[in-house]
Amino acid sequence: MNLILLGPPGSGKGTQGRKLAERLGIPQISTGDILREAVREGTPLGMKAKAYMDQGKLVPDEIVIGIIRERLEAKDTKKGAIFDGFPRTVPQAEALDRIMEELGRKIDAVIDIEVSDEEVLRRLTGRRTCRDCGAMYHVVFNPPKKEGLCDVCGGELYQRDDDKEETIKNRLRVYREQTEPLETYYEQKGILRRVKGEASIEEVEKEILEFLGIEGRDA
Ligand code: AP5
Repeated sequence: MNLILLGPPGSGKGTQGRKLAERLGIPQISTGDILREAVREGTPLGMKAKAYMDQGKLVPDEIVIGIIRERLEAKDTKKGAIFDGFPRTVPQAEALDRIMEELGRKIDAVIDIEVSDEEVLRRLTGRRTCRDCGAMYHVVFNPPKKEGLCDVCGGELYQRDDDKEETIKNRLRVYREQTEPLETYYEQKGILRRVKGEASIEEVEKEILEFLGIEGRDA
Protein backbone atom coordinates (compact mmCIF):
# COMPACT_ATOMS: atom_id res chain seq x y z
CA MET A 1 0.00 0.00 0.00
CA ASN A 2 1.26 3.48 -0.89
CA LEU A 3 -0.41 6.14 1.18
CA ILE A 4 -0.02 9.92 1.37
CA LEU A 5 -0.76 11.84 4.56
CA LEU A 6 -1.82 15.37 3.72
CA GLY A 7 -2.67 18.10 6.20
CA PRO A 8 -1.38 21.34 7.71
CA PRO A 9 1.59 21.47 10.07
CA GLY A 10 0.64 19.84 13.34
CA SER A 11 -2.37 17.99 11.95
CA GLY A 12 -0.90 14.69 13.14
CA LYS A 13 0.76 13.34 9.97
CA GLY A 14 3.87 12.25 11.86
CA THR A 15 1.88 10.76 14.75
CA GLN A 16 -0.47 8.77 12.51
CA GLY A 17 2.30 7.94 10.03
CA ARG A 18 4.33 6.18 12.70
CA LYS A 19 1.33 4.15 13.85
CA LEU A 20 0.37 3.16 10.32
CA ALA A 21 3.93 2.26 9.34
CA GLU A 22 4.18 -0.04 12.35
CA ARG A 23 0.82 -1.63 11.72
CA LEU A 24 1.30 -2.13 7.98
CA GLY A 25 4.99 -3.06 8.18
CA ILE A 26 6.03 -0.47 5.59
CA PRO A 27 8.31 2.56 6.03
CA GLN A 28 7.16 6.06 6.86
CA ILE A 29 8.92 8.52 4.57
CA SER A 30 8.97 11.96 6.14
CA THR A 31 10.76 14.60 4.07
CA GLY A 32 10.77 16.82 7.19
CA ASP A 33 12.63 14.14 9.20
CA ILE A 34 15.10 13.50 6.37
CA LEU A 35 15.80 17.24 6.04
CA ARG A 36 16.17 17.72 9.83
CA GLU A 37 18.65 14.80 9.93
CA ALA A 38 20.67 16.48 7.14
CA VAL A 39 20.63 19.77 9.10
CA ARG A 40 21.84 17.96 12.25
CA GLU A 41 24.65 16.28 10.33
CA GLY A 42 25.62 19.58 8.67
CA THR A 43 25.63 18.06 5.15
CA PRO A 44 25.53 20.39 2.10
CA LEU A 45 21.85 19.44 1.68
CA GLY A 46 21.19 20.28 5.32
CA MET A 47 22.93 23.63 5.11
CA LYS A 48 20.91 24.57 2.05
CA ALA A 49 17.60 23.39 3.57
CA LYS A 50 18.06 25.05 6.98
CA ALA A 51 17.51 28.61 5.75
CA TYR A 52 14.15 27.68 4.24
CA MET A 53 13.01 25.55 7.18
CA ASP A 54 13.87 28.17 9.80
CA GLN A 55 11.61 30.66 8.00
CA GLY A 56 8.79 28.15 7.55
CA LYS A 57 9.25 28.19 3.78
CA LEU A 58 9.25 25.15 1.52
CA VAL A 59 12.59 23.70 0.45
CA PRO A 60 12.85 23.90 -3.39
CA ASP A 61 10.99 21.17 -5.28
CA GLU A 62 14.04 19.75 -7.06
CA ILE A 63 15.75 19.05 -3.73
CA VAL A 64 12.86 17.16 -2.12
CA ILE A 65 11.97 15.32 -5.34
CA GLY A 66 15.60 14.12 -5.50
CA ILE A 67 15.35 12.91 -1.88
CA ILE A 68 12.16 10.96 -2.62
CA ARG A 69 13.50 9.45 -5.85
CA GLU A 70 16.54 8.14 -3.98
CA ARG A 71 14.51 6.90 -1.01
CA LEU A 72 12.10 4.97 -3.26
CA GLU A 73 15.02 3.07 -4.78
CA ALA A 74 15.60 1.37 -1.41
CA LYS A 75 14.30 -2.20 -1.14
CA ASP A 76 12.18 -1.58 1.95
CA THR A 77 9.75 0.57 -0.07
CA LYS A 78 8.85 -2.23 -2.51
CA LYS A 79 5.78 -3.30 -0.54
CA GLY A 80 4.65 0.28 -0.03
CA ALA A 81 5.28 3.42 1.97
CA ILE A 82 3.57 6.10 4.02
CA PHE A 83 4.43 9.54 2.61
CA ASP A 84 4.40 12.10 5.43
CA GLY A 85 4.86 15.73 4.35
CA PHE A 86 5.43 14.89 0.68
CA PRO A 87 4.18 15.97 -1.81
CA ARG A 88 3.59 19.58 -0.81
CA THR A 89 3.21 21.30 -4.17
CA VAL A 90 1.55 20.32 -7.44
CA PRO A 91 4.94 19.89 -9.21
CA GLN A 92 5.99 17.52 -6.37
CA ALA A 93 2.77 15.52 -6.81
CA GLU A 94 3.30 15.30 -10.57
CA ALA A 95 6.91 14.19 -10.04
CA LEU A 96 5.76 11.53 -7.56
CA ASP A 97 3.27 10.19 -10.10
CA ARG A 98 6.06 9.92 -12.68
CA ILE A 99 8.48 8.21 -10.27
CA MET A 100 5.82 5.74 -9.12
CA GLU A 101 4.93 4.94 -12.72
CA GLU A 102 8.58 4.31 -13.56
CA LEU A 103 8.73 1.91 -10.61
CA GLY A 104 5.47 0.18 -11.58
CA ARG A 105 3.73 1.38 -8.41
CA LYS A 106 0.84 3.71 -7.67
CA ILE A 107 -0.61 5.87 -4.89
CA ASP A 108 -3.56 3.99 -3.39
CA ALA A 109 -5.01 6.63 -1.09
CA VAL A 110 -4.49 10.15 0.22
CA ILE A 111 -5.64 10.92 3.75
CA ASP A 112 -6.26 14.62 4.34
CA ILE A 113 -6.16 15.34 8.07
CA GLU A 114 -8.15 18.52 8.73
CA VAL A 115 -7.49 20.82 11.70
CA SER A 116 -8.08 24.51 12.36
CA ASP A 117 -5.27 27.06 12.59
CA GLU A 118 -6.04 27.62 16.32
CA GLU A 119 -5.58 23.90 17.03
CA VAL A 120 -2.33 23.84 15.02
CA LEU A 121 -0.93 26.65 17.18
CA ARG A 122 -1.97 24.90 20.40
CA ARG A 123 -0.40 21.66 19.29
CA LEU A 124 2.88 22.89 17.85
CA THR A 125 3.78 25.29 20.64
CA GLY A 126 3.46 22.28 23.03
CA ARG A 127 5.11 19.62 20.87
CA ARG A 128 8.23 17.86 22.12
CA THR A 129 10.23 15.30 20.13
CA CYS A 130 12.78 12.71 21.26
CA ARG A 131 16.29 13.47 20.00
CA ASP A 132 17.16 9.78 19.87
CA CYS A 133 14.15 7.87 18.52
CA GLY A 134 11.90 10.64 17.17
CA ALA A 135 8.89 9.73 19.35
CA MET A 136 6.47 12.65 19.69
CA TYR A 137 4.75 14.15 22.72
CA HIS A 138 2.67 17.14 23.66
CA VAL A 139 3.14 18.81 27.02
CA VAL A 140 -0.64 18.78 27.65
CA PHE A 141 -2.35 16.37 25.21
CA ASN A 142 0.22 13.57 25.20
CA PRO A 143 2.79 14.19 27.95
CA PRO A 144 5.72 11.85 28.64
CA LYS A 145 5.65 9.96 31.96
CA LYS A 146 8.82 11.81 33.09
CA GLU A 147 9.08 15.46 32.08
CA GLY A 148 11.69 16.05 29.38
CA LEU A 149 12.41 12.34 28.84
CA CYS A 150 11.16 9.91 26.21
CA ASP A 151 8.93 7.04 27.44
CA VAL A 152 10.21 4.76 24.69
CA CYS A 153 14.00 5.12 24.96
CA GLY A 154 14.71 7.61 27.77
CA GLY A 155 16.18 10.12 25.27
CA GLU A 156 16.06 13.89 25.75
CA LEU A 157 12.94 15.69 24.46
CA TYR A 158 13.44 18.93 22.52
CA GLN A 159 11.35 21.64 20.84
CA ARG A 160 11.78 22.03 17.08
CA ASP A 161 13.35 25.31 15.87
CA ASP A 162 10.40 25.92 13.52
CA ASP A 163 7.81 25.53 16.29
CA LYS A 164 8.00 29.21 17.29
CA GLU A 165 4.68 31.03 16.96
CA GLU A 166 5.75 33.36 14.10
CA THR A 167 7.27 30.50 12.09
CA ILE A 168 4.19 28.33 12.66
CA LYS A 169 1.99 31.12 11.28
CA ASN A 170 4.20 31.32 8.21
CA ARG A 171 4.11 27.53 7.74
CA LEU A 172 0.31 27.72 7.85
CA ARG A 173 0.26 30.46 5.21
CA VAL A 174 2.58 28.44 3.00
CA TYR A 175 0.37 25.37 3.49
CA ARG A 176 -2.82 27.18 2.46
CA GLU A 177 -1.16 28.70 -0.61
CA GLN A 178 1.03 25.90 -1.92
CA THR A 179 -0.15 22.59 -0.47
CA GLU A 180 -3.93 22.92 -0.19
CA PRO A 181 -4.33 22.80 -4.02
CA LEU A 182 -3.27 19.15 -3.72
CA GLU A 183 -6.70 18.38 -2.25
CA THR A 184 -8.24 19.14 -5.64
CA TYR A 185 -5.41 17.31 -7.43
CA TYR A 186 -6.14 14.07 -5.56
CA GLU A 187 -9.90 14.61 -5.35
CA GLN A 188 -9.97 14.61 -9.16
CA LYS A 189 -8.16 11.26 -9.12
CA GLY A 190 -10.85 9.93 -6.72
CA ILE A 191 -8.37 8.83 -4.03
CA LEU A 192 -8.74 11.61 -1.42
CA ARG A 193 -10.32 10.91 1.96
CA ARG A 194 -10.88 13.71 4.49
CA VAL A 195 -10.50 12.88 8.17
CA LYS A 196 -11.42 15.10 11.14
CA GLY A 197 -8.06 15.64 12.79
CA GLU A 198 -9.34 17.33 15.95
CA ALA A 199 -10.55 14.10 17.49
CA SER A 200 -8.20 12.20 19.83
CA ILE A 201 -5.12 10.48 18.39
CA GLU A 202 -6.86 7.09 18.85
CA GLU A 203 -10.08 8.25 17.16
CA VAL A 204 -8.21 9.68 14.18
CA GLU A 205 -6.27 6.42 13.87
CA LYS A 206 -9.50 4.42 14.02
CA GLU A 207 -11.10 6.49 11.27
CA ILE A 208 -8.07 6.04 9.00
CA LEU A 209 -7.95 2.29 9.62
CA GLU A 210 -11.66 1.95 8.93
CA PHE A 211 -11.25 3.76 5.65
CA LEU A 212 -8.33 1.50 4.72
CA GLY A 213 -10.42 -1.55 5.61
CA ILE A 214 -8.19 -2.68 8.47
CA GLU A 215 -10.43 -1.67 11.38
CA GLY A 216 -11.13 -3.61 14.52
CA ARG A 217 -7.60 -4.72 15.37
CA ASP A 218 -7.36 -2.94 18.73
CA ALA A 219 -7.05 0.50 17.17
P1 AP5 B 1 7.57 18.71 8.37
O1 AP5 B 1 8.48 18.10 9.31
O2 AP5 B 1 6.91 17.87 7.34
O3 AP5 B 1 6.50 19.54 9.20
P2 AP5 B 1 4.95 19.87 8.98
O4 AP5 B 1 4.29 19.39 7.76
O5 AP5 B 1 4.90 21.32 9.21
O6 AP5 B 1 4.28 18.97 9.97
P3 AP5 B 1 4.65 18.72 11.44
O7 AP5 B 1 5.74 17.70 11.52
O8 AP5 B 1 4.90 20.02 12.15
O9 AP5 B 1 3.26 18.18 12.01
P4 AP5 B 1 2.53 16.80 11.83
O10 AP5 B 1 1.36 16.97 10.93
O11 AP5 B 1 3.50 15.70 11.50
O12 AP5 B 1 1.95 16.63 13.31
P5 AP5 B 1 2.52 15.76 14.51
O13 AP5 B 1 2.12 14.34 14.35
O14 AP5 B 1 3.95 16.06 14.74
O15 AP5 B 1 8.29 19.90 7.56
C1 AP5 B 1 9.11 20.84 8.22
C2 AP5 B 1 9.77 21.75 7.18
O16 AP5 B 1 10.59 20.96 6.28
C3 AP5 B 1 8.80 22.49 6.25
O17 AP5 B 1 8.34 23.70 6.82
C4 AP5 B 1 9.70 22.71 5.01
O18 AP5 B 1 10.59 23.78 5.21
C5 AP5 B 1 10.51 21.42 4.94
N1 AP5 B 1 9.85 20.39 4.12
C6 AP5 B 1 9.41 19.17 4.54
N2 AP5 B 1 8.85 18.48 3.52
C7 AP5 B 1 8.93 19.30 2.44
C8 AP5 B 1 8.49 19.16 1.09
N3 AP5 B 1 7.86 18.05 0.66
N4 AP5 B 1 8.71 20.20 0.25
C9 AP5 B 1 9.36 21.31 0.64
N5 AP5 B 1 9.78 21.51 1.91
C10 AP5 B 1 9.57 20.51 2.81
O19 AP5 B 1 1.64 16.35 15.72
C11 AP5 B 1 1.88 17.65 16.23
C12 AP5 B 1 1.63 17.68 17.75
O20 AP5 B 1 0.26 17.45 18.01
C13 AP5 B 1 2.40 16.61 18.54
O21 AP5 B 1 2.78 17.16 19.77
C14 AP5 B 1 1.39 15.47 18.73
O22 AP5 B 1 1.62 14.74 19.92
C15 AP5 B 1 0.07 16.27 18.81
N6 AP5 B 1 -1.07 15.56 18.23
C16 AP5 B 1 -1.11 14.83 17.08
N7 AP5 B 1 -2.35 14.36 16.84
C17 AP5 B 1 -3.13 14.83 17.85
C18 AP5 B 1 -4.54 14.69 18.18
N8 AP5 B 1 -5.37 13.98 17.40
N9 AP5 B 1 -4.98 15.33 19.30
C19 AP5 B 1 -4.15 16.06 20.09
N10 AP5 B 1 -2.82 16.20 19.84
C20 AP5 B 1 -2.32 15.61 18.73
